[in-house]
Amino acid sequence: MFRDEIARRRVLFLGGKGGVGKTTSAAAVALDQARAGRRVLLVSTDPAHNLGHLWGRKIGEKPVVLHPGLDAVEIDPDREADRHFKTVGQHLYGMMPEHLHGEVRRYLQVSAQAPGAHEAAMLERTAQLAVDGLRDYDLVVFDTAPSGHTARLLALPEMMAQWTRALLDNRTRADRFGAAARSLDGGNEESGIGARRSRDQRIRELLERRQTLLAEFRIVITDPKLSGFIIVLAAERMPVLETLELRKQLAESNIAVIGYLINKRTPDAADSELLATRHAAEEQWVAELRKGIGRGALIVQTPLLAHEPIGEAALAEFGGMLFGGPQ
Ligand SMILES: Nc1ncnc2c1ncn2[C@@H]1O[C@H](COP(=O)(O)OP(=O)(O)OP(=O)(O)O)[C@@H](O)[C@H]1O
Ligand SMILES: [Mg+2]
Repeated sequence: MFRDEIARRRVLFLGGKGGVGKTTSAAAVALDQARAGRRVLLVSTDPAHNLGHLWGRKIGEKPVVLHPGLDAVEIDPDREADRHFKTVGQHLYGMMPEHLHGEVRRYLQVSAQAPGAHEAAMLERTAQLAVDGLRDYDLVVFDTAPSGHTARLLALPEMMAQWTRALLDNRTRADRFGAAARSLDGGNEESGIGARRSRDQRIRELLERRQTLLAEFRIVITDPKLSGFIIVLAAERMPVLETLELRKQLAESNIAVIGYLINKRTPDAADSELLATRHAAEEQWVAELRKGIGRGALIVQTPLLAHEPIGEAALAEFGGMLFGGPQ
């Protein structure tokens, strides 16, 4: 059932609290789907990047083949932010008169350090990978960063689209004003005007490209037939409470949660009081989760293993538990 839900989607996000098993399960899901014959791109948007560690491989910005049909990339937030601000800089320098360029430089320096800067950059890259991924792959799996920011990040396209639209409107007004001014002064300085026109055109194209990309991304992630979010958690107080909060935020952004993966379940061992007590406490948190997410929601549980599931064989085995257990 869980596998069917995954098999019919094209874009998956795995998110949840730190250390619950997002990277492990994203890798296991991606491997399972590649083995089933789909072309899969596994993307890590986590600054800590343990995807490479998991596969014992160096993974970077360019796709690396992990298994036939399974490629992986890791997004570097610092590099994305640099690239992003270079582009934003181009826009701003182009829009502002020369005597304000010093201000623009200072503004860019501050903005690159501002909260949210990395997120905006990561969003653009994520959107690009999702949109391009739909063309080149059957499935794109995003292993997201360990924070509640993921939901907000996915809500960002709306905000950024509005911002870009406002910029475009301003440019339209500025273009009209410019054209009127030029007709008044009789169209002198032909070459200067020509240069400015082509620069304006470039800025407009950049803004429009970003607008289109974010709009496309938004359409993809809010289409429940195309995309879904899997929340990974542990059966403990904080992960359960954060899961309910994340679920709410995702609903507000119209992003479908296709399932809840409760990882690292303590075995119910009659001969160990410690394990039996922990197991019982976890059961209460599972019940709490069920109450919060409603009856129809899909819950999958995987046990705490003696060894960390690292490497392809262990991930395949983990995938077996993920899809083979009671669902
Ligand atoms: N079922 C399990 N049994 C035992 N160890 C596990 C299990 N699932 C994951 N682990 C281990 O727990 C650690 C955290 O897992 P993982 O890196 O997948 O979590 P994460 O949610 O991606 O963490 P982060 O928030 O830091 O990105 C890893 O060392 C992983 O090997
Ligand atoms: Mg991780």
